[in-house]
Amino acid sequence: MMITIDGPSGVGKGTIAKILAESLGFNYLDSGAMYRALALFADLHGITANGSDEKLKKLLIDLHIRFVDEDETQKVFVNTDDVTDDIRTSEISTLASQFAVNQIVRGVLKEMQRRIVKNKSYIAEGRDMGTYVFPDAKYKFYLDASPEIRANRRALQLKEILGVNINEQKVLKEINERDTLDMTRNICPLHPADDAVIINTSTLSIKEVVEKIQSIVKDDA
Ligand code: C5P
Repeated sequence: MMITIDGPSGVGKGTIAKILAESLGFNYLDSGAMYRALALFADLHGITANGSDEKLKKLLIDLHIRFVDEDETQKVFVNTDDVTDDIRTSEISTLASQFAVNQIVRGVLKEMQRRIVKNKSYIAEGRDMGTYVFPDAKYKFYLDASPEIRANRRALQLKEILGVNINEQKVLKEINERDTLDMTRNICPLHPADDAVIINTSTLSIKEVVEKIQSIVKDDA
């Protein structure tokens, strides 16, 4: 069974999807990590988002992204390299959004995502999971919150992961830029699927959002 959780950056999709996957015994697909891994790989090979599509296509033949569950965390590998931490920088966030407007990139990642979940129960989280990649998902959710609230949450999360103080205004600026790129791109722009349940998380705790979703899927999961 597929459950999709879509929404903009910093809305808490990742945290919520992980908790739900754990509680329902589902696998968890972090599609954003795949865009990030691709961006890092391209960057390391000197390929830019607005460069030649031919070079990009050649590069993508050699890209293999794997998720490996280790203790409480899910590690991300590009070929044999563990890139779990390297893909979380704000430079890679921006680069990932730039590559995400490219049709070749979206096509390759869509196929990888469909292959990964084949014949298994998954919670897939990202921008286009319910709309484009898994349109037949049994349950679809779209999480939303104001850019200011998302920037505050993201700054706290980055501080926890990286252990350094984060300039919240800078995070807000990056979130607004990424929202614009994600929502206005020609292919697979971020928007709720017609049949998605929209949850505004601005005034809800993580626990409350998780409980809301659990109450909707409880008869099937
Ligand atoms: O979710 P996360 O912040 O890790 O995603 C990084 C970037 O990858 C997003 O800003 C978005 O541009 C892109 N992305 C996407 N479609 C997805 C997941 C991520 O376009 N399903």
